Amino acid sequence: MDTNGKIICTCTEVTEKEIIDSIENHNCNTVEKVGDKTGAGTICGGCKRIIENLLIKPA
Ligand code: FES
Repeated sequence: MDTNGKIICTCTEVTEKEIIDSIENHNCNTVEKVGDKTGAGTICGGCKRIIENLLIKPA
């Protein structure tokens, strides 16, 4: 099963795959930078913890 396509940020419908891409290919090394690139975490902030976990250990 492709879990990379699952939505991490329900506010913006940004997927895990998009977040990992921003981390690995666009030098986004903080939650803020991931947010600037993808939009994830920029509305309610509820998904920031998940983004942090992806920053520590990209799946
Ligand atoms: S779930 Fe990501 S900003 Fe709301």
